[in-house]
Amino acid sequence: MSERIFLSSPHMSEEGYEQQYVQEAFDTNWIAPLGTNVNEFENELAEKVGIKSAAALSSGTAAIHLALKAAGVEEGDIVFCSTLTFSATANPIMYQHATPVFIDSDEKTWNMDPVALEEAFEKYPEVKAVIVVHLYGLSADMDRIVDICKKHDVALIEDAAESLGGYYKDKHTGTFGDYGIFSFNGNKIITTSGGGMLVSNNEEKVAKARFWATQSRDQARHYQHSEIGYNYRMSNVTAGIGRGQLKVLDQRVEKKKYIYDFYKRELGDLEGIEFMPVNEWDRPNYWLSSIQLTGKVRPIDIFEALEKENIESRPVWKPMHMQPFFEQYDFVGQGVSEKLFENGVCLPSDTKLKDEEMNKVVSIIKGVWE
Ligand SMILES: Cc1ncc(COP(=O)(O)O)c(C=O)c1O
Repeated sequence: MSERIFLSSPHMSEEGYEQQYVQEAFDTNWIAPLGTNVNEFENELAEKVGIKSAAALSSGTAAIHLALKAAGVEEGDIVFCSTLTFSATANPIMYQHATPVFIDSDEKTWNMDPVALEEAFEKYPEVKAVIVVHLYGLSADMDRIVDICKKHDVALIEDAAESLGGYYKDKHTGTFGDYGIFSFNGNKIITTSGGGMLVSNNEEKVAKARFWATQSRDQARHYQHSEIGYNYRMSNVTAGIGRGQLKVLDQRVEKKKYIYDFYKRELGDLEGIEFMPVNEWDRPNYWLSSIQLTGKVRPIDIFEALEKENIESRPVWKPMHMQPFFEQYDFVGQGVSEKLFENGVCLPSDTKLKDEEMNKVVSIIKGVWE
């Protein structure tokens, strides 16, 4: 069987930048815990996205957890959260013993519906924070969401795990809210094999997050702790991979867009197929090219046809309010996210894909229609 085609797999630079930074860490014996790569990765990423401060962490999930803590979310607090997302967006709400309320998607963006968000504020005026997700690199309707959160004076956290390199208007997603987070998990647009970043213009809060992430060690000769701590820091070795990957981020976004345009051109005219929406104000990173199937061909037909040829594809995220673990929590909306899940397919969007491989994917999919 031919080599597997992946949805999105790690893609190191042809120039070997990552290995150079990792080698530096070895040469200087800064393997762990921190060191130049961690500091510089934070600075370089902050500069790249246009924000004052960044903390390199062990995962995007850890970054969401510390963002919630920084926003003052505690036991019993309510947090509004995009329902159409990966569970890592919502799990940290539970780590804080807070209560999630899930917000539906807007058909226009696939992301948090501002109308449902307003409705949720009417129902739960005591809410402590909002987590908005930029799914598959598409940006949420940030002008409206920022306005609503400002009007109610509630902290906004952007889960930009999937949207690094993407913009809403001329500003990077992840930099609109009080806090933003990015992920460098293996399937993301750039990877450190595993890792995350918390960003904010509030430098004090980011410094506090670094403190929590290193076991909350008070300034004392002995080991003293006045607060609960976490082992959430990124290592100096993986930060070296991140620095190298950051150098090729623009190239990766370009390729992801090329893949999306390719599929749209080749498949866009099939009956009952709709591509993920790119609004006039959106400049996505096109992390995963995703489609909706509204006719006779169902997602399972595509998954099976591609899998038979050793090609990976997968459903759109199953909404959090439909998950056994979260279904006891409230949901505000009309069920748009449920339809997006039922009809959704994420197509192979690996930046190493060659034209002939994309042509193969296209012809298999066309075959399902025939
Ligand atoms: C939307 C979203 N949020 C959060 C995460 C969590 O990131 P990590 O895997 O780095 O913890 C991911 C991806 O894994 C994600 O896709």
